Formats: sequence, C-alpha cells, structure tokens
Amino acid sequence: RQKRFTPADITALKGVRPIVSLTAYTTPVARILDRHCDLLLVGDSLGMVLYGMETTVGVTMDMMVAHGQATMRGATRACVIVDLPFGSYQESKEQAFRNAVRLMKETGCDGVKLEGGAEMAETVEFLVSRGVPVFGHIGLMPQQVNTSGGYRSKGHSEDEQDKIRRDAKAIDDAGAFAMVIEGTVEPLAREITTTVKAATIGIGASPACDGQILVSDDMLGLFNEFKPRFVKHYSELADVIDKAAEGYAAEVKERIFPGPEHTFQIRPKK
Ligand code: KIV
Ligand code: NA
Repeated sequence: RQKRFTPADITALKGVRPIVSLTAYTTPVARILDRHCDLLLVGDSLGMVLYGMETTVGVTMDMMVAHGQATMRGATRACVIVDLPFGSYQESKEQAFRNAVRLMKETGCDGVKLEGGAEMAETVEFLVSRGVPVFGHIGLMPQQVNTSGGYRSKGHSEDEQDKIRRDAKAIDDAGAFAMVIEGTVEPLAREITTTVKAATIGIGASPACDGQILVSDDMLGLFNEFKPRFVKHYSELADVIDKAAEGYAAEVKERIFPGPEHTFQIRPKK
C-alpha cells in the first residue's frame, strides 16, 4: 500500500479487521513500525519512556512537535497522530484548536489525540468541525494522574462504569474518529465498542476493541521501570543493548576494537 491511512480509513476498519497501532517517537523506529501498523501514535508517553519523567504532566508542545516531525520522516503508510500534551488544550477550545493546528502544520501529522470524556466533548466538536481529526482517550487518563488517585484501572464500580459510558458517547457524538480506551474493565470496553461509531483502540481494555495499541518501548522490553498488567513483551531490547555495551566495553579494554578493518593506514604514494 502506497497511500497513507487517513483517520477516515481507520474508522472504516471498524467491524472489518482489528486495527494495529503502536507508539512511535523517532525516525528509525517509525520506519520499522510503519511496515506493520495502521496507525502510529506519537504519544506523550515519550516523557516517561524517552526522557525519564515520572509522569506525562511535564511534556511540552515543543517536545511533541520535535518527535512528531521525527516520526513523520520515518512513516509513509501509517496514519500518524500526535498527542496534545497536558495543559495545551484543557483551558479552552480555542487553545486546543491553536495547538492542534500547530502540531498538524509543523509536523504534517494526520490528526491529534486528547484525553477526556464529557468535559472535552465541546472541544472535540470544535476541532472536528474546523478540520482537525480527533482521536479521543477515555478510561484511565494518565494526564489526570494527580487528581484521579494514580494509575488505577477503571470501571470497577457502577458509578465509574456509567461515567465512562457517558464519556464514550460524548466524544463519539462530538465526532472523534477513534478513541483509546485505557485500563478499563473488559466487559465495559467490549460494550462501548459495540455502541460507538468511532473505532475503539484498547490498551488494557478488551480483545473485542476495534484495535489495540501499546507503548513501543514497553512492548519491546526497553522501558522496564515498571510493567503494567496490560503490557506484553515481544522482545527484551534492554537485554540486547546491555549485551552489546558489555561486548564493546570488553573489546575496548582488551584493545580488540578497533580492528585493522576499522582503522586508516597511510595510502602508499604512486
Ligand atoms: O501516550 C501514549 O503513548 C498513549 C497511548 C498509551 C494510548 O496515550
Ligand atoms: Na498519551
């Protein structure tokens, strides 16, 4: 496939086949993941997995622009969505539009993602009706970690289930082309998937969601500070890097590296 997936193409996959998505932040990794994914998300998770921040709260617009640009240089067929970071959209729908447009203009991405349910519905509608494709994000919302009592899974009480159900409907009615459902009890994520028009992309949600997403550094076994229940390692990249650095260090100390093939001799005169 030559043409990139559009947000509308992603929605159209609902009910056809599962949507494959991962996060991407850099050109070389995006180039690889692009071969296998329908959608690449430049997630604000980059604050934690690339920059060592404790939460995503400190991530800035400049960081999202830089990594959005890097990802776009590597992706040719996947739909690329960039996260609006904490504080860049909650103040007003106008602020959200201004920052969403900055991400789209400066990176060339296909749309933006923002966290929130009913309280963000007006903003989602404002953006979508003015030409900005919006990927929603409900259930566990990492940008609200400081007011929601940490990284707890959601939907264990009926009150919480009702709230998430209303959140899903609100951003669906507002026109989101897809929504992430994160850390939410399985039966509820399954139910929401059957009731909304948007494609649901699960992370710690349900195999019945219209698609799945994981943080690439988690999936690759590179970010190992902690491992949520919903993460599966498809590789142990941290071990691969550790072994490589160990081998390099040993060869430098024993003067094995660099070898003759890595060094320059003076060229003989003609
Ligand atoms: O920032 C991120 O990587 C995300 C995904 C986990 C959905 O929002
Ligand atoms: Na995010």
